[in-house]
Amino acid sequence: MLTTWSFGPVGNDAAFPGLASGGEALDAVVHAATVFEDDPSIDSVGVGGLPDADGVVTLDGAIMTDPNRCGAVCFVNHFANPVQIARRVMEKTIHITLVGDGAERFAEREGFQRRELLVERAREVWMQWRTDPSAIDRDMYQGWLPPINIEELEGIDQTKRRGGPAGSHDTVGMIARDVQGRLAAACTTSGMAFKVPGRVGDSAIIGQGLYCDQEAGAAVATGTGELITGVNGAFLIVELMRRGATPEEAITETLERVRKRYKLVDEHQVAFIAADARGNWGSGALRPGFRHTFTDGGGTRVEDPGVELEE
Ligand code: GLY
Repeated sequence: MLTTWSFGPVGNDAAFPGLASGGEALDAVVHAATVFEDDPSIDSVGVGGLPDADGVVTLDGAIMTDPNRCGAVCFVNHFANPVQIARRVMEKTIHITLVGDGAERFAEREGFQRRELLVERAREVWMQWRTDPSAIDRDMYQGWLPPINIEELEGIDQTKRRGGPAGSHDTVGMIARDVQGRLAAACTTSGMAFKVPGRVGDSAIIGQGLYCDQEAGAAVATGTGELITGVNGAFLIVELMRRGATPEEAITETLERVRKRYKLVDEHQVAFIAADARGNWGSGALRPGFRHTFTDGGGTRVEDPGVELEE
């Protein structure tokens, strides 16, 4: 069981016993995701996630085992467990992705309970952001320029870009491999902190935030979604593994593409975890700061990634 970030043990340790005793990889990633989403101390997913610019928490989540077996929900703001809802979309509808009001009505019909997602600590952080005199431009459409392609750099005031609000992108992604060798991937996030209302990042977009194909492997992304989207990050890694790259080689090539095609600013980070169909696995990040959590029969370890492109 491989999870993004150092807070992974809380989810891995809850889900791993089921996996070790013969449970399905799919159940393990849903179990772990639910633990993270229900933990109000994690400010990038579920209950406790940081809100958008209007102070509203919106969640995206997805699940995948194969190209013909995936589900996703985006812009859910009254339900805490988008990965569980995504699984229902996958199992009970002919669709893959439901968003906003439709996703919420589906969740309600499926018996999910409404929850308040904005906790007091997250509300205070949002209030601080709104009133911080050093924030350069409070108009969200000017103060929060999206990442831009390197070809578009001219004419953009970079000091303004750096002055934008610090994002929280610690999307939690999980890959599990069960005793039968089946892979499953899940991804859950409250997205970029203080995002423009309506913004959906990479996490719940199949191929961007996650991808899984039993014939090739699985990959999950975390970090600045706009950078991951532009290179179709998770899909690219899985396709590189299909053609023979190791997980670390595939992650490195994908991170290099991000670095080449975007002008990176201080707030940017992108990291991936990946596993191939044979059970080899790896992780990598653009910059220092990312750690993964790995659990197997020998226990749970929080480790630095195998690849860090920049010092
Ligand atoms: N990677 C999470 C997001 O940007 O929404």
